[in-house]
Amino acid sequence: MAKYKIALMPGDGIGNDVMDAAKIVLDKLALDVEYVPADIGWEFWCTEGEPLPQRTLDTLSECDCALFAAITSKPKEEAEAELVPELQGQDLTYRSPIVRMRQYFDLYVNLRPCKAFEGNPLNYRDDIDMVTFRENTQGLYAGIEFHPLPNDLRAKLEELHPRMGAFEGVDSKDIALSTRIFTRAGCQRIVRAAFEYADRFDYPTVTLVEKPNVIRETSGLMVREARKISDQFPEIELWETNVDAMTMWMVKNPQDYGVMVSSNMFGDIVSDLAAQLVGGLGFAASGNIGDEFAIFEPTHGSAPKYAGQYKVNPTAILLAVKLMLDWLDKTETAEALEQAVAEVIAEGKVCTYDLGGDSGTLEMARAIADKL
Ligand code: NAI
Ligand code: MG
Repeated sequence: MAKYKIALMPGDGIGNDVMDAAKIVLDKLALDVEYVPADIGWEFWCTEGEPLPQRTLDTLSECDCALFAAITSKPKEEAEAELVPELQGQDLTYRSPIVRMRQYFDLYVNLRPCKAFEGNPLNYRDDIDMVTFRENTQGLYAGIEFHPLPNDLRAKLEELHPRMGAFEGVDSKDIALSTRIFTRAGCQRIVRAAFEYADRFDYPTVTLVEKPNVIRETSGLMVREARKISDQFPEIELWETNVDAMTMWMVKNPQDYGVMVSSNMFGDIVSDLAAQLVGGLGFAASGNIGDEFAIFEPTHGSAPKYAGQYKVNPTAILLAVKLMLDWLDKTETAEALEQAVAEVIAEGKVCTYDLGGDSGTLEMARAIADKL
């Protein structure tokens, strides 16, 4: 029996192209792993009314971790129209499989490293090496929202908070409310993960990106917990910034930052900004990580216009494989893979269209595999 079991979920569109690229590199690495294919994506929504079937969740539960490529999603009416006739009119709603997997497996860390590879023509600067830790389960994306504002909730808010007076006279049907719930444990575990990563990979700083001067209670809780955790890592400095200012610093002096940690929405925003500084979607990989299980993915979508053309950059999924190797504690193999990617990019001979080349997805993956 193999040492590890890893689920592979290619999904839709270019998800299949880049998963084939990942397989070339995984074959070359010849790890002691059994790879298990798992169904996810638009096809399963259309034919089964469920883009993330229960059998997939069951398969994932039996695996050590998973590699996921990309899926397609569409607005409500279009989604309903593409269901097979037997499933139409049953009031099925499309739910994001990625969000569901994060919640189902409590994958509270969203890890997004953004490193500039030497010779990448898309780099904003060549000396960037930033890693975002975004809280992945709470905050503004937890989905606890109301519209219209229920009357009993409104009455309670008016009783408890004087500032609700500002909305006096506005009809409840004209008020929408989204909650931003943080728990102490939720703040602690994301900040701790960021410090542990900084410690493991020798980053001198962890920057907390929040807005405690305005969002006093939630950001405030995160800041207080971060300071306590920071005390346990005397070699690593905790920097505190406001998210708005941080977006300016990231453009002005991105080379100054190492690990960043933030809540769900702010982390989503700053990690996209960081990704663009080092080449954008063709280079952006992420890990959704919990205590027991993790799912690694390129952050790009299914790019339907390129589906099946084997044109897109495989680097993002290969860097996701690198994160997966780190998580499996195969640090040396992970480093070797990153080094192989770096060499191919530095040489600039075999590269995809986004890098100004005309090599295909699999050709670039093979060039990287050849360096291993
Ligand atoms: P997208 O990320 O699929 O593609 C946008 C554009 O970025 C592409 O047209 C292409 O020009 C470029 N691009 C993406 N990946 C690339 C790569 N590996 N190499 C080079 N260039 C690359 O985003 P879009 O077009 O907004 O969404 C397409 C579908 O994907 C939608 O159905 C959307 O809902 C879904 N989506 C899925 C995600 C996921 O599975 N995690 C994330 C984002 C979008
Ligand atoms: Mg995003």
